[in-house]
Amino acid sequence: MEDQFRYVFWLAVLVMITAARSITSCSCHDKWKHVLTTNTTGQATFGSKANLTTAVLSGSDVRILLTSDSYLTSVQNVKTTGVNVCGQALMHISKASYDSFQDKAYWWFISVCTTGQVQMNRYYVGNHVSNGINKMTYEIKWFIRDFTEKALSHNINGAANFGSVTNVIDDVDVGSDVRVVFDDYAATMNSVQIGDNKDLVIGQAVWHISQKTVTPNIEFQGNDYWWFTNWATDGTLAASRWQIGDHISRGESTEAQGLTWFTDNCWMLVYQHDAAGNRVQGSLDLLRSAVLQGHRVKVMFDSISAEPDEVSVQGGHVSSVLISMVVRSPNDIRAFNQSGMWDWRILTTTGTETTLKVNVGEYVEQGRTTGTKAVSWFIDSRPWVQVLVNSKTGSVLSGSKAALVSAVHSGARVRYVLSFDPSTSDVAVHEADNLAVSGSEVSAAHIRSVSLSSFPTEVKFQPKPYWWFTQSTTTGKVDMSRWTVGEHEGRGHTSATAQITWFANY
Ligand SMILES: *[C@@H]1O[C@H](CO)[C@@H](O)[C@H](O)[C@H]1NC(C)=O
Ligand SMILES: *[C@@H]1O[C@H](CO)[C@@H](O)[C@H](O)[C@H]1NC(C)=O
Ligand SMILES: *[C@@H]1O[C@H](CO)[C@@H](O)[C@H](O)[C@H]1NC(C)=O
Repeated sequence: MEDQFRYVFWLAVLVMITAARSITSCSCHDKWKHVLTTNTTGQATFGSKANLTTAVLSGSDVRILLTSDSYLTSVQNVKTTGVNVCGQALMHISKASYDSFQDKAYWWFISVCTTGQVQMNRYYVGNHVSNGINKMTYEIKWFIRDFTEKALSHNINGAANFGSVTNVIDDVDVGSDVRVVFDDYAATMNSVQIGDNKDLVIGQAVWHISQKTVTPNIEFQGNDYWWFTNWATDGTLAASRWQIGDHISRGESTEAQGLTWFTDNCWMLVYQHDAAGNRVQGSLDLLRSAVLQGHRVKVMFDSISAEPDEVSVQGGHVSSVLISMVVRSPNDIRAFNQSGMWDWRILTTTGTETTLKVNVGEYVEQGRTTGTKAVSWFIDSRPWVQVLVNSKTGSVLSGSKAALVSAVHSGARVRYVLSFDPSTSDVAVHEADNLAVSGSEVSAAHIRSVSLSSFPTEVKFQPKPYWWFTQSTTTGKVDMSRWTVGEHEGRGHTSATAQITWFANY
């Protein structure tokens, strides 16, 4: 009873804060906007290509719906070429059906262009073996949403011709997303670091695969590598290239580039604790309620701000699992450590920080620590609507499946709370990397998760972790494909059932 009261109370506080915030930035309530439909031969049958190009170069985020398959996906980076726009949508693992993976899993990277061309590039998980590249054509719906502020534009020496580094830092300090536009290319940063003297910001983007222009399209180049990048407000662009599936460097480079920085200020600080897990300000209850109401989460620790790839609630405490980071050089935060290692962390509201460094492309651990960390926790203030709760057997406990299907067709971001054991309050929260509709059912795939061990109030990286690819469906089924991190070694393909609460951000 008391818990329920607290929950309702904090929910009310959250609603009030969200409402207050919306007065100052009503654009936080802007919806994903359908700006263009291209048919299989690349003509605009709705909207205009010029409008999509303008939006991309003004820092808008992009989502893509392949209409014939009712398949909606996030896009990790976009590039314009002539009158066309292409986006890399990389977060897919091969499927046997709309709600299950293939046993022999491969990555299924797609490059989607307004020419109607969709190029699919397949690599087996954990090695550098291609399972084929081919091109198809699709009718595609393009959705955009603006970032709320242009914060800085600078030349190759870092001299500002619009805004200032301080603008960017002020926004990062309140949890903002950061998007960098470079010439005809744009990507949202997976993590951002502020320099010690508060005069430098470095954004890191890791989800990009080698590509080339094949007019009028942009295509994967073949024999591909990951292109990890650090973008700095002094004009430095550092890149580190690692062959897909191998721990083989394909080169490092540094160049000077003029960049434009956009921020999305629809975030607020809700909780802050010290390294011992003691409250400094805000409320853990408020953070937890927001997480359970579908809100996105961001953490700031040391001088790094990052959005977790997975959020877990154990015994009332919230853990952020960060796996979209690569180790930076300790001597120069603009550079990468040339050894090529993932920089994985779990931050928990208990104050615990667990880290794991593992080589990119092979399973070799370079260090594992458990310590403590002071953390600031932010949630996004955009509206998340609870559209459905399905039981473990797929019956509708609240809302409707039709509402979720309609959210997919309108380009919405979708997050969901997985409750494998509804008799406890321990849950995992995912954002859909891609969504597929089949009849009245929806299946959401989440790619960016690794295996975790559960403890009463936190989660930790398992010894010899595996990728935990999941597909969660409104039927209650959760299909799981497991592959040792860095190796082509299957660790089992099974399915379980979960009660799932679905949220849409239209
Ligand atoms: C694409 O749209 C254009 C313009 O409406 C039309 O002329 C063309 O036939 C369409 N292509 C296909 C394959 O439907
Ligand atoms: C392109 O954007 C402009 C400005 O928002 C709008 O007025 C126009 O209708 C759009 N064009 C199309 C074809 O959607
Ligand atoms: C890179 O990381 C390795 C392994 O942790 C470490 O020994 C080395 O000093 C680092 N080098 C640089 C330049 O950061």
